[in-house]
Amino acid sequence: MTKIIKISKRGELAPDSPIRKLTRFAEEAKKEGIKIYHLNIGQPDLKVPSRIRTEIRKVSNIDYLPYTNSQGTKETLLSYSKYFHDIKVNYSPKEILITFGASEALIFAIAAICDPEDEIIAFEPFYANYLGFANLVSAKIIPVQLDAQENFHLPSQNKIVGKITDRTKAILFTNPNNPTGTVFRKYELQTILDIAKKYRLFIISDETYHGVSFKTKAISFMHLAKDLEQQQIIIIDSLSKRYNVCGARIGAIASKNLEIMSAVNRFAQERLSVGFIDQKIVTLELQNSLGDVKKITKIYQARRDAFLKTLEGELNIKTLYPEGAFYAMIKLPIKDSDEFAKWLLTNFRYKNETVMVAPGSGFYASPGKGKDEIRIAYVLGEEELKKAAKLLAIAVKQYNNSQHLRESK
Ligand SMILES: Cc1ncc(COP(=O)(O)O)c(C=O)c1O
Repeated sequence: MTKIIKISKRGELAPDSPIRKLTRFAEEAKKEGIKIYHLNIGQPDLKVPSRIRTEIRKVSNIDYLPYTNSQGTKETLLSYSKYFHDIKVNYSPKEILITFGASEALIFAIAAICDPEDEIIAFEPFYANYLGFANLVSAKIIPVQLDAQENFHLPSQNKIVGKITDRTKAILFTNPNNPTGTVFRKYELQTILDIAKKYRLFIISDETYHGVSFKTKAISFMHLAKDLEQQQIIIIDSLSKRYNVCGARIGAIASKNLEIMSAVNRFAQERLSVGFIDQKIVTLELQNSLGDVKKITKIYQARRDAFLKTLEGELNIKTLYPEGAFYAMIKLPIKDSDEFAKWLLTNFRYKNETVMVAPGSGFYASPGKGKDEIRIAYVLGEEELKKAAKLLAIAVKQYNNSQHLRESK
């Protein structure tokens, strides 16, 4: 009998990223000479901070490029510890591991606490790649729905507790949030902490956008947790967005729990080391960066207003104003945002331009959700964003007209 060669279930089930899955249509449109306003991906257009630029110039003289310690270089670990100290979170270098962005930190955290089929509660809409990270270790994301009417703040405690089973290992929490931009309040973090304490769960706290909040300051679980509770907390951090260095691939995982740190350090030994140059160029900035983060936060707030006000005016709709990060989940008068997002790239052109957005459905685990939503990242200049909002409004009207025509045929 011939054996069938087959890939793993994990390989079959790995989801497409809603943020990147339409890239090939964008490439084709660009080949036609179409200008695309990229609102689909959270990649800041801002310059890297001057201290990092200076360091980049210095490393151009390097003629020896070694692996580093798997945990990270001594200097980067010390600097990360200093950053945490600046935001009033107490982590010594031995409680930190430097990772390839928050992405690797999340994969390590999930792998350290979950066996196959174990469950992690996450609030949807959530950062789409959480599904893929859990799938990598055959764990499951169990969604708790957030309501747009409540500006995507937490539902009642019962709704969260109702999702806990014998297999639940952790609650995954993102603050400030991507894709909604929600900044959760202190009482909401306390609710999560109380649940985690009562039901013996870990909290994986994704603080990738810490510092980027407009009116209400986002706090960390480490600001609230008492000594023993701190053992249940795993902080995920990233420099990608705060310092506009997505391409440097530097993030961190931090925890007071020595068993977790021992596990993730062994995972890290298996992948040997994070980039030597990447760590070198961010180390100085990490020691004193709060001022730079404040500056970019002001820029994002103005961009948010520029984009949403224009879109509201053009479409005569009301949108939610995100409280932090640089994303918005927007409800549009359309039936199928997956089809709409593709149509924008393949059919819609206005004066040789179009926009790229991420369809809402990819940010949900519940089937059928997000069909009338798109997620946008306001990572372009204000004038560009206003143009993109106008273009999006024209597209919505044209799309609905063409759909109406198709349906009446
Ligand atoms: C909430 C959240 N977590 C994690 C990541 C991963 O970022 P990186 O791996 O670049 O640090 C992102 C990226 O957009 C994100 O939005």
